[in-house]
Amino acid sequence: MPQYDTFEHDVLIVGAGGAGLRAAIGAVEKGCSVCVVTKSLLGKAHTVMAEGGAAAALGNFDNQDGWKVHFRDTMRGGKFLNNWRTVQIFAMEAPERILELERYGAVFDRTPEGLISQRAFGGHRYRRLAHVGDRTGLELIRTLQDKAVSVGIDVQMEVTLTRLLTDGGRVTGAVGYRREDGSIVVFRAKAVVLCSGGWGRMFRFTSNSWESTGDGAVMAYEAGAELQDMEMVQFHPTGMIWPPGVRGVLVTEGVRGDGGVLKNGAGERFMFNHVPEFYRAETAETPEEALRWVNDKVNNRRPPELLPRDVVARAIYKEVEAGRGSEHGGAYLDVSHMGAEYIKRKLPSMYDQFLHLGDVDITKQPMEVYPTVHYTMGGVPAEPESCATSLPGLYAAGECACGLHGANRLGGNSLTDLLVFGKRAGEAAGDFAIAEGPGSISEAEIQEEVETLMKPLGGSGGENPYQIHAELQEQMQSGAMIARTEEGLRQTLDKIHELQRRAEDIRVPGDTKFNPGWHAARDVKNMLVSSEIIVLSALERKESRGAQWRLDYPNEDAYWARNNVIAKKIDGKVSISHREVPEPPSELKELLQD
Ligand code: FUM
Repeated sequence: MPQYDTFEHDVLIVGAGGAGLRAAIGAVEKGCSVCVVTKSLLGKAHTVMAEGGAAAALGNFDNQDGWKVHFRDTMRGGKFLNNWRTVQIFAMEAPERILELERYGAVFDRTPEGLISQRAFGGHRYRRLAHVGDRTGLELIRTLQDKAVSVGIDVQMEVTLTRLLTDGGRVTGAVGYRREDGSIVVFRAKAVVLCSGGWGRMFRFTSNSWESTGDGAVMAYEAGAELQDMEMVQFHPTGMIWPPGVRGVLVTEGVRGDGGVLKNGAGERFMFNHVPEFYRAETAETPEEALRWVNDKVNNRRPPELLPRDVVARAIYKEVEAGRGSEHGGAYLDVSHMGAEYIKRKLPSMYDQFLHLGDVDITKQPMEVYPTVHYTMGGVPAEPESCATSLPGLYAAGECACGLHGANRLGGNSLTDLLVFGKRAGEAAGDFAIAEGPGSISEAEIQEEVETLMKPLGGSGGENPYQIHAELQEQMQSGAMIARTEEGLRQTLDKIHELQRRAEDIRVPGDTKFNPGWHAARDVKNMLVSSEIIVLSALERKESRGAQWRLDYPNEDAYWARNNVIAKKIDGKVSISHREVPEPPSELKELLQD
């Protein structure tokens, strides 16, 4: 058993994205000592990939907006699998969290009157996204980072946590390793907040960076927590498709929010042909009608490019499958009609990204895009008021948590999610820590984890973690992607089981120091666990709803409209069950009538 350092705090926060930083501020304000542990560097998190804005019914352009409309839009976008109370809290508190962020120092774009500017996004009835050009997530994280550091937090960077520690079922800390030298670190805490983000790296094409391997959700699952609606993986309609090296990189929805149009290989504005009945009444039927919306905004019906992400992603996929794709097998996204000055001011990152990565000047030429894995709606179910999970002492907020987004997240709702529920989770964890005092950590659990961690080291031969990861990505991309079938999912499950067997035999050369191969060995194990749960959940939900599109069950189903899919580890295996979606009270149901 190697020597290890132990750190003690009231509250341990796993992850330094927007949710983690906002939770840290909340816990410090309760009087707690707080440590934020990040696998990466402070300031670098998937939060920055929410580029287009943070949704909140401020009503700065459209004064008809309010929390009730935001509630309605979010429930409709999520196809009613959302926890209504989580959505209600979210919609009610979102404006105050944005104004608070501004008080912390965030510099938003302004309206001519000097208010926070708001842009249109898919599925939002009104212009609702507070934004900073197309770098909103970056500004959010910069601001929260300054604030969190100023209130006094400890930060441990480049530390991968691999196991939650428990005391009679209560979560009392975590163990992991420093990425630099592989030394073991133990954190003892009175409460733990999981803000570890989502998991997209098991797919070949994703906007997620290397950190998004689902460590937090898998740690919670291994410790006995439930995971919910894991089949709901969001395919953002617009990732880059060309050149191959940048495939999957995000093209913000702000492009379409500001008037960008999608065209197929034949130059046709195809989204007009893909409007589901559910959204027909509010969607423009002709380019002229769509243009009126762009000019007059709320008075007319919205362009079909601003339908929710699941709808737009499916439409692009269908066009390509029908042989109407763009040159490299995607769709064209055109903003050239918006004028170079406007594009460079409102979409500066997109301008730079395409110019430098793709040699495309978007002020003159169309972008080429294709759906990319962007977000996970499923995760650890979190209680709406406090973000408590089913494990005492463990809280969850942000992308790793489940409840707010249902079957499909509306763009822009994630940044505000981080603020609303990061705050709530941090404060609730702080209250718990103060009320409960310290629990103990188990030497046996630490030892067991260290043995598991060290197992790939030192042997020769064996399996290569990068090879296993590459095979997993290929299989998930082909069998569990945007359009799913029983056959494809079963093949994927078989492959995952094969890879899990092979992963037992992973060997990496070298020791724990500066050894990315050793890190990959652990990451791929987590991705195999979460992939298995994604696929089992997708097999279970025999219907199409939101992000789950089953070609063999193309319709929504009344039973599944009322049930979440739950995964739990029982006797070492994934056990799948269903749980009824909580029914909203009548006054909120009324908001959903149309
Ligand atoms: O397209 C985007 O800017 C992403 C936003 C989001 O995921 O919320």
